[in-house]
Amino acid sequence: MIPSVLDAPAPGWTADADVVVIGSGIAGLVAALRCRPHGRVLLVTKALLDAGSTRWAQGGIASALDPDDTPGEHLADTLTAGVGLCDEAAVRVLVTEGPDAVRGLIALGAAFDRAADGEISLTREGGHHRRRIAHAGGDATGAEISRALLAELKDSGVEVIEHALVLDLLKDAAGRAAGVTLHVMGEGQPNGVGAVRARAVVLATGGLGQVFSATTNPEVSTGDGVALALRAGAAVADLEFVQFHPTPLWLGEGARGQQPLISEAVRGEGAHLVDRSGERFMVGRHELAELAPRDVVTKGITNRMRETGEPCMLLDGRHFGAAMWEKRFPTILAVCRHHGIDPVTEPIPVLPAAHYSSGGVRTDLYGRTSVPGLYACGEVACTGVHGANRLASNSLLEGLVFAGRIAIALTDDLAAADFAGTTEPPGLATSPDALQTGGLVDPGARGEVQRIMTSHVGVLRGAEGLDTAARELAALPHGGAEPGVEAWEATNLHTVASAIVAAARLREETRGSHWRQDFPERSDAGWHGHLVTRLAGNVLTTAYEPLEGDDQ
Ligand code: SIN
Repeated sequence: MIPSVLDAPAPGWTADADVVVIGSGIAGLVAALRCRPHGRVLLVTKALLDAGSTRWAQGGIASALDPDDTPGEHLADTLTAGVGLCDEAAVRVLVTEGPDAVRGLIALGAAFDRAADGEISLTREGGHHRRRIAHAGGDATGAEISRALLAELKDSGVEVIEHALVLDLLKDAAGRAAGVTLHVMGEGQPNGVGAVRARAVVLATGGLGQVFSATTNPEVSTGDGVALALRAGAAVADLEFVQFHPTPLWLGEGARGQQPLISEAVRGEGAHLVDRSGERFMVGRHELAELAPRDVVTKGITNRMRETGEPCMLLDGRHFGAAMWEKRFPTILAVCRHHGIDPVTEPIPVLPAAHYSSGGVRTDLYGRTSVPGLYACGEVACTGVHGANRLASNSLLEGLVFAGRIAIALTDDLAAADFAGTTEPPGLATSPDALQTGGLVDPGARGEVQRIMTSHVGVLRGAEGLDTAARELAALPHGGAEPGVEAWEATNLHTVASAIVAAARLREETRGSHWRQDFPERSDAGWHGHLVTRLAGNVLTTAYEPLEGDDQ
């Protein structure tokens, strides 16, 4: 049973805003800044402002900035990577608005790397037929974008609460989003469980990689936004498409937690994937070899490991030389050396790890979810641009473009909405649902959720393992845990894991990052559509929705 509301004490404090934005990666920061004309904006974030995934992004941000490139070519590469499940209208928005959005970041002060002629230096990554990835600080793109946006936030009038774990959505009598409950810990701020009343709620909570034992995601990526949205009754789509990055640094058998990323840009600049014998095993598997879309490379690595029995594969960039490593990939060089590997003189051991959720809270082209007044952007959202597999470096762009569109939507939506129901102070204490939850998951179950997901729902999936995962997740103890951050996070992880398993069991085909050993082919006849998950009455249901125009 999945709880429809988290057990939490009655709010001890309340605050008011016109727009509350949850999350402070690129999507949350852009949403907060762009929503400022709509009134009082409150940005709440789970840890420190720069602790989310954005600041870890290495490769860069994709857009057709090169005069020889076009949005149409970017569109084609994105649709190919998404294996038939992208929403073409959403991708068109992404690629046509993308170049100006990136220029907007540059105007804000984001310092992208430039070539000798002063033009933005562009690199390639998996699935891109052209150089179109802008980067900063060599391989510290996310950190630079985050720095520039945070500088802009400083005097913007946006109010900030850090160390705030969002709990549940508040709704008015008409079922419209009316704010959130959250738990805050930190000096100089309201503390404990509180309620923020707002006319619009923007989820920008990032990813869910911590559902797995090994992930490139930071500690905070526990799927809180997807879990909240499910509890609020919102539609969530495409959760089976968890993307496994092909080349995180291998830290040895059984490594857990956040794994250091070795950017695809390293391959974009010409590094080769080899096995221990030195064979370039991606050559012949795909026309782009090491620069095939990410799912293809991850499958290539996994297959080669099974063929050879080796525990990892190797990424060889020795031919770059020391000067290039130092200039182009200073972060990766330092991280590898910290772990005792010198990429200048030896190949880097790599192993795929959970990286990105291509699915999430379903939105329209303006970030609207199925719950009026609730919006989503960034990784937590499923805007339709990624389909079954996100194209590399489209994620920062998606956050940037679609967060801005929420501010546009609010102009009409706030004027049209009837806020009569929000005048009563909301709070969990007034909601009868709060008393009948499925119960909190014990904090100790967090490791179990990760073990189950890693053992049975990883890169390669099959009915037997997925059935085991469903059974083991359902058997984890519910109900006895004391309310608190650890139990709330464990409950969110459990909810999201259960939803991923439900979708992965249902989709009996191989497509994009969803790889079924028992259904190894793509099946457009059976599965050319989305899996949409909802939570009602503490029960998750996942339904197949064929794409419009398909007659099934
Ligand atoms: C990378 O730098 O390889 C990650 C880029 C991405 O996830 O888009």
